[in-house]
Amino acid sequence: MAIIENSSRIIVALDFPSAEPALDLVSALDPTLCRLKVGKEMFTRFGPSFVEKLVGKGFDVFLDLKFHDIPNTVAAACAAAADLGVWMINLHASGGRRMMEAARDRLDSLSHRPHLIAVTILTSLGQEDIAEAGFAGTPAENVIRLAKLAESSGMDGIVCSPLEARDVRSVVNSDFLLVTPGVRPNQAALGDQLRVMTPSDALKNGADYLVIGRPITAAPDPLQSLQDILTEIGIK
Ligand code: C5P
Repeated sequence: MAIIENSSRIIVALDFPSAEPALDLVSALDPTLCRLKVGKEMFTRFGPSFVEKLVGKGFDVFLDLKFHDIPNTVAAACAAAADLGVWMINLHASGGRRMMEAARDRLDSLSHRPHLIAVTILTSLGQEDIAEAGFAGTPAENVIRLAKLAESSGMDGIVCSPLEARDVRSVVNSDFLLVTPGVRPNQAALGDQLRVMTPSDALKNGADYLVIGRPITAAPDPLQSLQDILTEIGIK
């Protein structure tokens, strides 16, 4: 497979209930202009072969399975994900230091080493939700604490809201990756996302990669929509 120079900061979230429309969309996209994210729904329905198909088409794939289990199990799951040839994988920082270090150590022993990033506090959780689950402090305070824990446990970055990116960036190293969903180009419908930012504002706030789904996947012309976003952020 050719090595593709991909400097794109856009990760297109493939959230489809069947494989065909996802593959139709993928054939309209260009692996030099974007990366792809496969989450729990598509992975559970279509499995490793679907992921390998995307990798085989030359795309960098973020396998968004958010692992959270005992250290040995998560380390083994990360190794299995790495074997699919994906570019990025993730786990929950709340699984703790030993879980994150076990995953990192296992990946470090492999020849193909995907980026390993951590989810801090899911953006769907509010103050009452985290208090009920036993977390003291505000969601923002917990994001900062878990981001520092993720960095000191050897993670390559975290997933966070673009609204949190500036505060997180101020407490982590500049090479620590910030991956932000909840991004909407100005004119795009919000869908079920409430706390959003435009692509250029998310980047200004310190995000490295932007996860964007429906503004591209549900657009009449997905490639044009991607190109419009790249223009907005001044890449193309
Ligand atoms: O269509 P949309 O742009 O809202 O898609 C965003 C993607 O990012 C979805 O795959 C969603 O599951 C994911 N995501 C999110 N918010 C988070 C974490 C992941 O929207 N906090």
